[in-house]
Amino acid sequence: MSANVYPVSNDIAKGALIDKAKYDAMYKQSVEDPEGFWGEHGKRIDWIKPFTKVKNVSFDAKDLYIKWYEDGTLNVAANCLDRHLAKRGDQTAIIFEGDDPSVSEHITYKDLHERVCRFANALKSMGVGKGDRVVIYLPMIPAAAVSMLACARIGAIHSIVFGGFSPEALAGRVEDCGAKVVITSDEGLRGGRGVPLKRNADEALSHPGVKSVEKLVVVKHTGKDIAWNDARDVWYHEVCEAASPDCPPTEVNAEDPLFVLYTSGSTGKPKGVLHTSGGYLVYASMTHQYVFDYHEGDIYWCTADVGWVTGHSYIVYGPLANGATTLMFEGVPSYPDASRFWQVCEKHKVNIFYTAPTAIRALMREGESFVNKADLSSLRILGSVGEPINPEAWEWYHEHVGKRNCPIVDTWWQTETGGILITPLPGATDLKPGSATLPFFGVEPALLDNEGKELTGATDGNLVIKDSWPGQMRTVYGDHERFIQTYFSTFANVYTTGDGARRDEDGYYWITGRVDDVINVSGHRMGTAEVESALVAHSKVAEAAVVGVPHDIKGQGIYAYVTLNAGEEPTDELRAELVKWVRKEIGPIASPDYIQWSPGLPKTRSGKIMRRILRKIAANEYDQLGDTSTLADPGVVDDLIENRQNRK
Ligand code: PRX
Repeated sequence: MSANVYPVSNDIAKGALIDKAKYDAMYKQSVEDPEGFWGEHGKRIDWIKPFTKVKNVSFDAKDLYIKWYEDGTLNVAANCLDRHLAKRGDQTAIIFEGDDPSVSEHITYKDLHERVCRFANALKSMGVGKGDRVVIYLPMIPAAAVSMLACARIGAIHSIVFGGFSPEALAGRVEDCGAKVVITSDEGLRGGRGVPLKRNADEALSHPGVKSVEKLVVVKHTGKDIAWNDARDVWYHEVCEAASPDCPPTEVNAEDPLFVLYTSGSTGKPKGVLHTSGGYLVYASMTHQYVFDYHEGDIYWCTADVGWVTGHSYIVYGPLANGATTLMFEGVPSYPDASRFWQVCEKHKVNIFYTAPTAIRALMREGESFVNKADLSSLRILGSVGEPINPEAWEWYHEHVGKRNCPIVDTWWQTETGGILITPLPGATDLKPGSATLPFFGVEPALLDNEGKELTGATDGNLVIKDSWPGQMRTVYGDHERFIQTYFSTFANVYTTGDGARRDEDGYYWITGRVDDVINVSGHRMGTAEVESALVAHSKVAEAAVVGVPHDIKGQGIYAYVTLNAGEEPTDELRAELVKWVRKEIGPIASPDYIQWSPGLPKTRSGKIMRRILRKIAANEYDQLGDTSTLADPGVVDDLIENRQNRK
């Protein structure tokens, strides 16, 4: 833990929306009188029919329900677009910065509104209506935001699949949610290289299990030649041109679904995290405003991809609901060189910049000269998300990017939480590098021991949240039982986050990482079970066990122990083939960093793999294995140590 404390700067506190006294008072009200607090803040968005009920929640696993603003009706797209038109129709809503540094575009609220209305009508003409699912498999281009908002406008449920996922992964998600329409582009573009999205989509849709898709909408992006299925495929620009720009927003209930987003868990296949409309939008917009101390006119840039929840809440819904100017970046931090992020900040005079520790660590390795090339004087607030930020990276970010003038908000949250739960507020919270600090309004974290007893004072424990907040997920799409099992059965009457945390003497939270079999690779969440099932799907593999391994840039890397079928040769070629196989099954983000051939795995007598041992060997800490006497065959451990791959 870092010993440094950075007090709130006077300059920031002066103009900030929330100072220390206000934070204390508002936090107190939010937990003592959630109904009153959220009733008042629920009015920050426009309702068609105002709510009269605020909160209706039970965390009891036997009778679980989570409802916010349940008798209110609204339209999310109208909140992000229409309500701004009179005041800021000509203001830029989205700045698009292409992969190619010479490409950028400013899209006004008026223009975005028209694009959304046209595409919403086009979707309607394809038979998409309220409650239908639409899968979006697009690069970071404006059409991605247009597609999300077009679905929201007609009450359809979008499910974005990250463009880095493979055809297999896409097929699984399309099948699970039963999408009627899929939206993709000819290609994506990253670091000057094309990503064959249309080809991947064709392959996914040819999967035998995928039966629901009627139309594939294709955005022309790079102009690459692509295969075409006349019966199914339509061009995005053609259907938009043909559609009317007049599309009245569909009235939906606060608890009608807005989107499903698949995320990895500790078991089996990814689960469809379902978020609803009213509470989610209240929470996304409120956290965006207060956590980033967003002021009218600020240029705001979140570098995430819309394929992750960060892109949903803090590129699209939160900022647009607040009438902000949000920047969408198609490219990567290292192209054309390691100064790209900083060049973009200078070019568009970015005031608020939100990125992931893995990017900071990668850029830090390239040295300060790339940062110093750019004029970063427009920056006021910096943010971090997705994984713990090590104090060294925090200090570098603070000193070289923020020039010691910009507070860093280290925001802890999850796909499931819809928005930020633990975070500093720029004008209110003294900072400690590496700590996500204190809870946002209405959020009641607690630390439990493994028996479920609440721990007090400075301590380590399992991080849980004691009561609901409006942005919380409502269910796992199509599997409510899994929702209850995953989040409400480990400990009674609380939301279990799956993270461990430490609380210090000042009540600050330090997230220590997952306590389950989920790993975090470059801020991307990955279930070890998913990688294992990809590996065992290969005809030469008998068994596989996957663990996270500390990695300087990625935070965690992927370490796989593989047992081959009898008679198979453990060669370097096979190792390369298995890496390729996993990339094909899941996507490049799941590529194992190490594969160790393991004739046997350490198992208890009841057959359970002892992952603790595998984690230690992967981390090269084989002298700290602890008790191995309960293993069925303690001998396997010697072989594993002998052949470990991560020798330092
Ligand atoms: O382990 C925590 C880590 O990322 C997990 C959630 O991943 P995902 O659902 O993909 O959402 C990422 C973006 C919100 C958490 O369970 N995590 C996220 N933010 C932080 C973090 N760990 C430490 N510090 C953070 N600021």
